Amino acid sequence: MAEEHDAVENDAITLSNVTKTVLTADGPKSLLKDVTLHFEQGGIYGVIGLGGAGKSTLLKLIDGRLTPTSGTVTVLGENLAKLDKPALARFRTQISRAGVFPAFDEERTVLESVAIAAGEAEDADRPDEAARAKALRLLREVSLRSQKDAHPSQLSGGELQRAAVARAFASSPKILLFDEVTAAQDHIEGREILRLIQQFARESGATVVLATHEIATVKEICDHIIVLDRGLVVEEGSTFSVLADPQTDQTRVFMEAVSSLGKVDALLAGHDPVVDLRPGQKLIRLRYVHEDVSEPLVSLITRKFGIDVNIMLADVQIVGKYPIGGIVGVFEGPERNIRDAVAFLRSKKVRVEVLAEN
Ligand SMILES: Nc1ncnc2c1ncn2[C@@H]1O[C@H](COP(=O)(O)OP(=O)(O)O)[C@@H](O)[C@H]1O
Ligand SMILES: [Mg+2]
Repeated sequence: MAEEHDAVENDAITLSNVTKTVLTADGPKSLLKDVTLHFEQGGIYGVIGLGGAGKSTLLKLIDGRLTPTSGTVTVLGENLAKLDKPALARFRTQISRAGVFPAFDEERTVLESVAIAAGEAEDADRPDEAARAKALRLLREVSLRSQKDAHPSQLSGGELQRAAVARAFASSPKILLFDEVTAAQDHIEGREILRLIQQFARESGATVVLATHEIATVKEICDHIIVLDRGLVVEEGSTFSVLADPQTDQTRVFMEAVSSLGKVDALLAGHDPVVDLRPGQKLIRLRYVHEDVSEPLVSLITRKFGIDVNIMLADVQIVGKYPIGGIVGVFEGPERNIRDAVAFLRSKKVRVEVLAEN
């Protein structure tokens, strides 16, 4: 399948069998192991993993700050290993990046910093009128117009991060790399920052790669997810498919953090009275793992099969346009009717687990 690993025309970024190994006091350590990934132009990609998984390393390989030990990194049609220093510098003007604590020049106003990014490289320090106008427009979009003449230390962390998003898009980059940009923000600020990234990305057609340890972040705006675990890509795909039906423990751990459906396992293990069943009752977990579950299935089965469903836990979130998650409920009624209801749910592509019965 060698050709599958080659750069594809539609790709903004291709990593083919990339390994990055560094020497540490304990010997060689592989930060990334045989990573093959395709990032299509215009996609918003979330790279998720725990601390040390290799997320930042991946971003640094994409913009040429690191070189792979083996394998190939192809970005915007260029094999980065083949670029000399000036070519690499030119190449990097097409990429923007922002990190957890954005660095701004304290001597300049926010407007000046964003205008410099918006300006042509040659007159970097003296942005022209067009660059200033663009910067002003971007600052208005990130709700910082009234603070345009503020210096960085006069802005809150969230405001500075919004300024960083404006600056990142100011140069009209083809690729943007965001490393934990919401990690230092509160929930509301974080969502606003993500919304802005999504809006600017859609308007400009840029490719975004967002590294984070928070599943909520990727769920919010990413259309693709890459799950990294200790240097390995353990799962990847559309955000819906990865989150609705995780195939690895690593992804499940991330999902458990934001879903209440797993709580029932602890209740069962602890013989909690809540999960004590009367004769004829079954404790059943339903999970929505396909994109086409839209009918009100619970009310449907109670009517259609003449059973009762007492919902104990429910956790349904909309990802993209579709519900993921599910419910845990006590099903009660004639054995046969429950069996038919379960078969019906399965035919509707709902995953059904009978957790306990009496
Ligand atoms: N230059 C280096 N030398 C040795 N170890 C490194 C180096 N850079 C990163 N690491 C280690 O590699 C692992 C992956 O790092 P990183 O890509 O920053 O992970 P993440 O961003 O997912 O937290 C971490 O354990 C980190 O300590
Ligand atoms: Mg990191």
